[in-house]
Amino acid sequence: IRVAVFASGDGSNFQALLDNEDLVCEIVLLVCDNPGAKVIERAENAGIPTYVFDPNEYKSKLEYELHLLKALVNAEVRWMFLAGYMRILSPLLVEVGEDRILNIHPSLLPAFPGKDAIKQALEAGVEKTGVTVHYVDEGIDTGRIVAQEEVEILPNDTEKTLKERIQRVEHRLYPQVINDVLIEFSKYDKGI
Ligand code: GRF
Repeated sequence: IRVAVFASGDGSNFQALLDNEDLVCEIVLLVCDNPGAKVIERAENAGIPTYVFDPNEYKSKLEYELHLLKALVNAEVRWMFLAGYMRILSPLLVEVGEDRILNIHPSLLPAFPGKDAIKQALEAGVEKTGVTVHYVDEGIDTGRIVAQEEVEILPNDTEKTLKERIQRVEHRLYPQVINDVLIEFSKYDKGI
């Protein structure tokens, strides 16, 4: 099953997917909207083709997504996994990829959607937060939830320490959920 991973920054989740030997899909493309991102280096080191673009060089989201769509079609991508991709997908891409786009988010959605979810949780003073994997729709972290795992917030937690524990969960959970979803899907769809 040919898949693309979308990321904008460090790419530790991308790396966890690459390093997972049990993954039932093949990462054939890294999509990145930030030409300076570390994740590009990770892809290059692993020999994974990249599609890197700078949204500022396009007149509109529709324009850059039409180019992106072409790259996805050319690479025969069937599923898309967002892993720290800091942009909302347009209705165009969401429609084309309907029910074949997942995202991972560092909170127990619907709590703390959008940016800085870890900081939001700390500031809210809640006792636990966590990780959510969900389908992507046109909203901000609003799509159907596939899996969640709790992470306790400790009294002395800083953004850094909490992020470390959350990411450890993410790196284990995302590959596992991706496999579960793809295996389930392949029972009904013989076309991939
Ligand atoms: C992760 O915490 C993910 O949940 C969020 O963005 C972060 C990306 O981290 N959507 P990385 O680039 O994978 O290290």
